[in-house]
Amino acid sequence: MRDAAPQTIYLADYTAPAFWVDEVHLTFRLAPTATRVLSRIRFRPNPDAPGPFTLHGEGLTLISAAIDGTPITPDLTDAGLTCAAPDAPFVWESEVEISPQTNTALEGLYMSNGMYCTQCEAEGFRKITYYPDRPDVMAPFTVRIEGALPVLLSNGNPGASGPGWAEWHDPWAKPAYLFALVAGELIAHPGKFTTRSGKAVDLNIWVRPGDEGKCAFGMDALIRSMDWDERVYGREYDLDVFNIVAVDDFNMGAMENKGLNVFNSSCVLASPETSTDANFERIESIIAHEYFHNWTGNRITCRDWFQLCLKEGLTVFRDQQFTADMRSPAVKRIDDVLSLRGRQFREDNGPLAHPVRPESFVEINNFYTATVYDKGAEVIGMLKRLVGDDAYATALDLYFDRHDGQACTIEDWLAVFEDTTDRDLSQFKRWYSQAGTPRLSVSDAFSDGTYSLSFRQTVQPTPGQTDKQPLVIPIAVGLLSANGDEVVQTTILEMTEAEQTFQFHGLAGRPVPSILRGFSAPVILARESDPAERAFLLAHDTDPFNRWEAGRSLARANLVAMLDTGAAPDPHYLSALGSVLDDSSLDPAFQALVLSQPGQEDIAQALMTAGKTPDPIAIDQAQETLADAMSAQLGSTLERLYDAMQVPGPYSPDAEPAGKRALANTVLRLLTRRDGGDRATAQYDAADNMTQQLAALAALLDTGRGAAQCAAFYDQWHQDRLVIDKWFGLQAGLARADAAVETAQKLTEHADFDWKNPNRFRALIGGFAANPAGFHDPSGDGYALVADWLIRLDPINPQTTARMITVFDTWKRFAPARQAQMRAALDRIGRTEGLSRDTQEMVSRILAG
Ligand code: TRP
Ligand code: ZN
Repeated sequence: MRDAAPQTIYLADYTAPAFWVDEVHLTFRLAPTATRVLSRIRFRPNPDAPGPFTLHGEGLTLISAAIDGTPITPDLTDAGLTCAAPDAPFVWESEVEISPQTNTALEGLYMSNGMYCTQCEAEGFRKITYYPDRPDVMAPFTVRIEGALPVLLSNGNPGASGPGWAEWHDPWAKPAYLFALVAGELIAHPGKFTTRSGKAVDLNIWVRPGDEGKCAFGMDALIRSMDWDERVYGREYDLDVFNIVAVDDFNMGAMENKGLNVFNSSCVLASPETSTDANFERIESIIAHEYFHNWTGNRITCRDWFQLCLKEGLTVFRDQQFTADMRSPAVKRIDDVLSLRGRQFREDNGPLAHPVRPESFVEINNFYTATVYDKGAEVIGMLKRLVGDDAYATALDLYFDRHDGQACTIEDWLAVFEDTTDRDLSQFKRWYSQAGTPRLSVSDAFSDGTYSLSFRQTVQPTPGQTDKQPLVIPIAVGLLSANGDEVVQTTILEMTEAEQTFQFHGLAGRPVPSILRGFSAPVILARESDPAERAFLLAHDTDPFNRWEAGRSLARANLVAMLDTGAAPDPHYLSALGSVLDDSSLDPAFQALVLSQPGQEDIAQALMTAGKTPDPIAIDQAQETLADAMSAQLGSTLERLYDAMQVPGPYSPDAEPAGKRALANTVLRLLTRRDGGDRATAQYDAADNMTQQLAALAALLDTGRGAAQCAAFYDQWHQDRLVIDKWFGLQAGLARADAAVETAQKLTEHADFDWKNPNRFRALIGGFAANPAGFHDPSGDGYALVADWLIRLDPINPQTTARMITVFDTWKRFAPARQAQMRAALDRIGRTEGLSRDTQEMVSRILAG
């Protein structure tokens, strides 16, 4: 259903619901195009917020409705219904009909490969039945499912069942967005967990026949997550069963429905033959994320959707801690910062910039963003750094105690920190309301044994916010002496003013500062320092994040100089890299990160910070030139490392062997530039796991080779959807400049390009849009290709379309001719007849910003 005039919703307009819900009974009579949903809901007027009785409902056919047993005829609108209601508790009953088979938006009740499933966050429950579909209305649900399918699942604990029917009861009051139902021919991979207070929990991962061999890792990750949440946060599971279902058609990664998590199959199914090391790590973290939501999201939920970061920022922060504990904290921090800079900084410094807690929206699905999730997590990291680990733990205990069973706000969250630490967090709170990435400029001085660091913070204007206030910025600093010894260990400087100077006394000589250790705040550090100092930090810093950062800033500066003044690859940078690679005491995963070049977005941001206009094609070419230079200059080191990093024996996804493979495969990419593809070809032929196979194929494609392997890969894997997604993505993502658009075009004509499946669409169209040589082809054909496909997808799946249109959000940073091409593509999408509200909102924000 399309809304003619999209409405803007404001945080400031929040009012409590006029009616509370005490109990929900639902009966589903499943049929592909005519499912009946019967509801019996006990309502109670809210004396604090009297108002008319209205229920949300979209695309429902109302069969009947009654209040306290008396049939009624409500007033129906596009968005729901309204009718007269008693001024005392009453029972609402309704029957509606819906058509899951024709629901292509994948929101509400829909079908995927013959299986029924639901996605209700954020506002999908209103496509299932009439209900107050808002997160502050919480109730226990009892559900009866009728359908001729072997497996019938819903939230909570299983009740009675028989052939063709099953009942479920969820005793924990929950908002409608956490409702879930799954029905189909599914196979369980079972597991068990006993909570520390002795409660036995049955665990299951439900998959389609054929996928049962890909569940063991997910189950293991789930058990480790449950154990970790008990040990680290004192949080126990609270139902008799915990079910996970893998679904092939899904708009996002996964969903934390109470007791019944639904996963995009790409985020749970894993096997050594079909999944890469990166897939294993991502699956582990998403399983943890959704499980952790049971407390941070479900037991304590959001009062309204403006508070989304309350659950998402905190849950991301928790899953990041989990991964750091399971693997390497240093490597995890670097990975998280890479993704923060690549996605969130881009968002925060472009037309889509918005606060971690937005103040208005048209379509809430458009606010499941890197800012809400990842900057939301950074803000919690800063809070923890400021108050310390013990105070953080105390505040969290109070949060869980005080707010269990409630729908909360950011004010509630900050209050537990204020109450346990006596800190005034009113200035800190600006991190939630002020959009934009702060720039932190630094200058230093040394005299008479005193070293001074002076900082200045500024934030550029963002859409709707021109006037920026100073933030509280925790700046972790350490000082090194000229011989590499640490003379001042990591201290947190607490910056609160626009400009502030901090002093260190009693130093024997001028130190080398290591600033923003561990990336202690999500800011852009602008410090003019000479390459020698960066090389020194790359060799000596005790903080692994800043050690990596030193190498990265050398590379970035080199690339900027190459682009700006035609400079050559910097021999000092290359020899500093060589020293890191020769240091066998370092973690190979860390070395792999040091050896990786800054990406397209990182370089573009560096150019813009220096006041230059980025050209994506020129950036791509500079990266090629630098890679060739690395390959040439580091030759023998790379050859030695490639051999030293080979992992013998059976595959294990653990951090240690995965780190070795990461280094070997980063090295392979460089070696393939000079060995005629021999190593990659041999690795491809010998590979017994997907990490090795895919890395070899990527190295070949990257250098314009690999046609034979590509064909063989397809023949080997054409029956595995998730592997074929990789096949599409790799070709579209790595096609070289002269053939990229044509390659993508050809792939869209492939019989397996099932564009209605979001994973396949993201693999090919998203993979292509992430390939600068293709998307940014000077002809403008890349923009046109993506625009064509977004226009085609929008009517069937607005959510995925609106997410992917963000590939155009950089248009204003480019030179006029390119701007005009991108703008033309955006305009064409914007002018499309009947464009969804989701995509309309995105187009107008991207164009306006
Ligand atoms: N709450 C989910 C998570 O972060 C996100 C999610 C899954 C989602 N499916 C969605 C959000 C659909 C919006 C729409 O774990
Ligand atoms: Zn989440």
